[in-house]
Amino acid sequence: MRIEYLEKEGLFRLIAGETEYVIGIADEKYVGHVYFGKQIEDNRCGCLMRTEEAPFVPSKNLREKCSFADTFPAEYSTWGMGDYRDSCLNVRSAAGFRGCELHYQGYRILAGKPELPGLPATFCQDKEGKDGRTLELECRDEVLGLKVILRYSVFADSEAVIRSAELVNEGEEPLYLERVLTACMDMDMEEGDMLTLAGSWARERHMVRRPLAFGKQMVSSFRGESGHQDHPFLAVMGRDAGQDRGEVYAMHFVYSGNFMAEAEMSQFGSVRLLMGIHPEGFEWVLEPGKTFITPEVVCVYSHEGLGKMTHIFHDLYRNHLIRSPYLHAKRPILINNWEATYFDFNTEKLLEIAREAKKRGVEMLVMDDGWFGDRNVDEGHLGDWEVNEKKLPGGLPHLVEQVRALGMEFGIWFEPEMVSPKSKLYQAHPEWAIRIPEREPVQSRAQYVLDLSRPEVVEYVYESVARILRSAPISYVKWDMNRQMTDVGSVWLGQKHQGELFHRYVLGLYELQERLIKEFPKLLLENCASGGARFDPGMLYYSPQIWCSDDTDAIERLEIQEGTSLLYPLSTMGAHVSACPNHIVGRVTPFKTRGYVAMAGTFGYELDITKLLEEEKHLIEEQVKMYHRFQPLVREGDYYRVASWRENHRYDCWQVVAKDKSEALITYVQVLAEPNWHSRKIRLKGLDPEAEYRLEEIEMEANHQTKVGKTTADQIYKGAFLMYGGLLLPRLTGDFMSKMIYLSDVRICR
Ligand code: GLA
Repeated sequence: MRIEYLEKEGLFRLIAGETEYVIGIADEKYVGHVYFGKQIEDNRCGCLMRTEEAPFVPSKNLREKCSFADTFPAEYSTWGMGDYRDSCLNVRSAAGFRGCELHYQGYRILAGKPELPGLPATFCQDKEGKDGRTLELECRDEVLGLKVILRYSVFADSEAVIRSAELVNEGEEPLYLERVLTACMDMDMEEGDMLTLAGSWARERHMVRRPLAFGKQMVSSFRGESGHQDHPFLAVMGRDAGQDRGEVYAMHFVYSGNFMAEAEMSQFGSVRLLMGIHPEGFEWVLEPGKTFITPEVVCVYSHEGLGKMTHIFHDLYRNHLIRSPYLHAKRPILINNWEATYFDFNTEKLLEIAREAKKRGVEMLVMDDGWFGDRNVDEGHLGDWEVNEKKLPGGLPHLVEQVRALGMEFGIWFEPEMVSPKSKLYQAHPEWAIRIPEREPVQSRAQYVLDLSRPEVVEYVYESVARILRSAPISYVKWDMNRQMTDVGSVWLGQKHQGELFHRYVLGLYELQERLIKEFPKLLLENCASGGARFDPGMLYYSPQIWCSDDTDAIERLEIQEGTSLLYPLSTMGAHVSACPNHIVGRVTPFKTRGYVAMAGTFGYELDITKLLEEEKHLIEEQVKMYHRFQPLVREGDYYRVASWRENHRYDCWQVVAKDKSEALITYVQVLAEPNWHSRKIRLKGLDPEAEYRLEEIEMEANHQTKVGKTTADQIYKGAFLMYGGLLLPRLTGDFMSKMIYLSDVRICR
């Protein structure tokens, strides 16, 4: 890790592992993008900005300044001064004129990485910041009196480059920020693909790859949350790039609200990547002396395909983003009552589930939606966070005490950002909901969103949650958010500041969760939004795990979890075994396969255990044992995608390898059975080629112990054999069948 200034060449060089990022100061102090890629360390690389290619340098050809501005590879592009590609910044002056041009003023190289006040952000592990460096480039628009600080940080153990921007109004009049993205990155990529994650409710984050073409290709959200539909991620990659080879440039937004991520191919075939807060509905009034800070973007380059990109993201998020004490701790195996009972439960029913679950080794009962106000249907009382004593006589302390007396922990569901029209809260404070006066607000799941830009609302919401948590020993909270925004108006903000509501809402949400984890430092917080709508790096700063999707079908989960694990460590993915036929797709899959798939996440159950067959309850006991045995590896290891059902339409296979390569766990799911085939060769990844691995086939049978395949000399293989030769797996009979295989280095017997 290194950041250096090459004065003679006017270059800033950032080195992060094998990756190099170079910024150049061109004539007339334009800040240009020189290079992002595998380390080259050549001081002549400034030529890559092409400023010497006449007639494009304004000082030499002012009459064609536009040609310069429209092709210059900018580090932070601005609108209205000749760069017709999409820009990061568009500012309107108090007089109503739009246009901005930034010129370099100076730099600072700092030890560590400054916090971004009020925003989630990656951080140094070391208190004195010895494991990080930050470059700050100060730029200015003299006419507007606007200072812009471009920030770039690197960490000692990562190849990512983290970017954000800070804007300060140093003038005497307000400035109107109509668009403030975090970063742009210009590159040459005439032949490439764009990779995004897209979906919908119950099928979040499916990988979508398409050719880059002239014009703008964008994914975005202006739903008030990062969303089910698009994900704040964008990568461009060479046509030949795949899992283990080729170049990938990726950007991921550490933010939970509106975003845009765009790839624009210009007239000369260069590509500009842009990422930041979606400008739709956005306008921030920057008063004199005030500052606006953008959320940060993580930029990753890989020359070894998606696999390496994934490792960089996983390690960065584990080492520098997730703060929870649970990050490296075993999460309790939980059972959640939502799919078991929906709203129809009481203390006795919950205790019945808890007793049976405890017998089988489950460690925590989570009471989901429906425990408060008069909430027996979706229309019921969000906002009235008082325990419904008709369902829970004796209140929460009584229930929690009984659950804990069984030797289990207790967790609870909230949806604190919402209000139902029928609630006492809404009757008392209709102005607390986000809405446009005179308009009937649009309902979604029969509810409205609370205006978190309003401090008294934040206070009410916080106290509602904290009061319950103070009333009983509650170990876990599932924080849900079940609708997207419409009628984006706040009577509180007034006419001039309506364009700030989306972002102020997200800041209010972050403030709430920050307070929560400060007051309850031992709480295990799991974020959730109608399934996996707000699964983003911003939320990970507050909670170590996020509910991946309401779709718990093992086969649907293959694609959802493949897309999610492209960026997120397995330890962050909320995954449970649920009942069959699956409540969303109606599919029936083997209990064993449901367990293997959920084991690639935080693991738990979402079913009425009292209604299971004895045989299935035995399988739970087996799965619990497996979870205890393999969890540390799944949580801390390196994840490898071996095969993708999405691509081959036949089978899925992933692998987790310990950092020291001493053990590995392989999960294989054969989706549909096929007749008359020989065995399937699976080439493993990430092993030590020289190590000798003992192979155990994990067999889970009801009424049997978990069988470990016999380990004869035949079942000891060299890493090289397993990676280059391959493992022959027999074809499995029956649909949705699966296998789990454990490898351990014989030199380090565990
Ligand atoms: C959302 C969540 C579910 C469940 C319900 C309760 O849909 O994703 O897991 O908690 O809300 O209303």
